[in-house]
Amino acid sequence: MALEALKEGHRKALGVVGEMERAAALVKQRGDTGTAAAILRGLLDFLENDQRVHFLQEEEGLFLYLGVIIGEGPLQAMIGEHESYWKAIANLKGMLRAPGDGAALAQLVTHITAMLRGHIEKEESAYFPMAESRLSPQRLKEVDEEMATIAGRR
Ligand SMILES: [Fe+2]
Repeated sequence: MALEALKEGHRKALGVVGEMERAAALVKQRGDTGTAAAILRGLLDFLENDQRVHFLQEEEGLFLYLGVIIGEGPLQAMIGEHESYWKAIANLKGMLRAPGDGAALAQLVTHITAMLRGHIEKEESAYFPMAESRLSPQRLKEVDEEMATIAGRR
């Protein structure tokens, strides 16, 4: 199946998004910022490292192939969202060092989860189907090989 590495990345990311939403709910509903912060610290490795590989697989793998067909514009929008994500994650790391009453933390986490859900939704509903319908089986195979190489060198 084509693009399986990216789809698997999305499935895992949505699992982490669910955990982040539970952490935000702990703050909002119970004021339990300590537990929420501990949960979020435990997710940072995924949010930074796994997600970095995933974005690289898109930016240096799929998007390069897709750009030839649909042009750079739509892909720049996706890359812009990746950049927004890194800014938000840098803020999250800063906040986790001193979460205070958790209000700003919960707000930021809600922002990140909404952003990630929307981003994944766009890729799954528009970009991946476009790649699967417009790239030849040979090109899709090359994309998958390229993405395996990117994952392997991290
Ligand atoms: Fe993605």
